[in-house]
Amino acid sequence: MRVYDILQKKKDRQELSTQEIQFLVNGYVDGTVADYQMSAFLMAACIQGMTRRETVDMTLAMQYSGKQMDLSGIEGRTVDKHSTGGVGDKTTLILAPALAALGAKVAKMSGRGLGHTGGTIDKLESIPGFRTEMSPAEFFAQVNQIGVCVIGQSGELAPADKKIYALRDATATVESIPLIASSIMSKKLAAGTQAIVLDVTCGSGAFMKTPQQAKELAGLMMEIGQDAGRRMAALVTNMDVPLGHAIGNMCEVREAMEVLQGGGPEDLLEVCVALGGAMWMQCSGKSLESCQKAFREVIADGSAWEKFQEMVKAQGGDLTKLGTLSDEPAGVLYAWEDGYVSEMQTEMIGKAAMVLGAGREKKEDSIDPLASLVVHHKTGEAVKQGDPLVSLYTQRQERITAALSMLREGIIIGKEPVDEPILVYEVLV
Ligand code: URA
Repeated sequence: MRVYDILQKKKDRQELSTQEIQFLVNGYVDGTVADYQMSAFLMAACIQGMTRRETVDMTLAMQYSGKQMDLSGIEGRTVDKHSTGGVGDKTTLILAPALAALGAKVAKMSGRGLGHTGGTIDKLESIPGFRTEMSPAEFFAQVNQIGVCVIGQSGELAPADKKIYALRDATATVESIPLIASSIMSKKLAAGTQAIVLDVTCGSGAFMKTPQQAKELAGLMMEIGQDAGRRMAALVTNMDVPLGHAIGNMCEVREAMEVLQGGGPEDLLEVCVALGGAMWMQCSGKSLESCQKAFREVIADGSAWEKFQEMVKAQGGDLTKLGTLSDEPAGVLYAWEDGYVSEMQTEMIGKAAMVLGAGREKKEDSIDPLASLVVHHKTGEAVKQGDPLVSLYTQRQERITAALSMLREGIIIGKEPVDEPILVYEVLV
């Protein structure tokens, strides 16, 4: 087999065989396929597409490029959820303890921030002492003991995806439905949980720009998971506005804590109810409606909040040492005229938070846990000239001007009222 022939075939829109896909993926992991060859394949796959069979083969080749987590030592129903990426998305911090409070076993591996999107592990690490690296034995013991443990994605799971994703990031080949589906599902299948709920975001802050594209991606991932014997559900959620008000690591933890204590922003709670209901449905087999109700109850009775505190303590974190935002923001974007917030370019807003230090521009960059944005008014809300729209927090004063101009560009104020955004477009169960 020659890589050249495989590339020629893909370029000519012919379907690749299972063996050809395995040859390419395995060769890339062991170094016999070069970066430029894999880049050519990815670009051809992006432009010419991949058949469903090719996508499944790509998923399996990446899944079996590393270890498979064996969760058989965990007693009870294991459940995982994955988001395709968002701005202000702190749902895992709420869902993981809430599902454990309901009785599920949440053995969760999460990622770090990627591009303009935040990552759960960076958020959790803003809690002083919180350990996101644990041995498999510690991980299983904690899940069995308290029902929940959230750690960083092991490099041993789906190493092919790790290598290919880095290349896609650098070659403008991320936004491809089959490549995203195989990337996400290879990791989720290798992580071993019985049930998987996907949060497929769409809009200006997401890889999928329209609900139709997001639905296609969600359907494909569900089929791949179901074929592999997993119980699957997927929600198409709106990322045309940031979720909640807080964007940035420490302040997102604080906002999640507010929701767990019965407060916090309504949109964040409602998206969590939708996702959490689907997760509990996959574990309990009960109706979606009754599972959403049960989810609301563990928030209202404080048991999800208790579970969160238990999880933080078990992983070495100290909430009494969690930082707070200073009373004086480092900068404020004020409404420049009367009107209605009619549009938010959510990716631009995520990038502004990154510029302040909430994310990384290069892999080796460090994160400032306090760097953040607090969005005071979102799409659909009326504003008066001079109202604060976004407060900026950072220790990098020199970045304020750049972040302010990105926010100014990313928020549109119009004269006409607009509807408040839909939160969940579709629930596929
Ligand atoms: N998240 C992933 O893990 N992979 C993708 O391809 C896109 C989002």
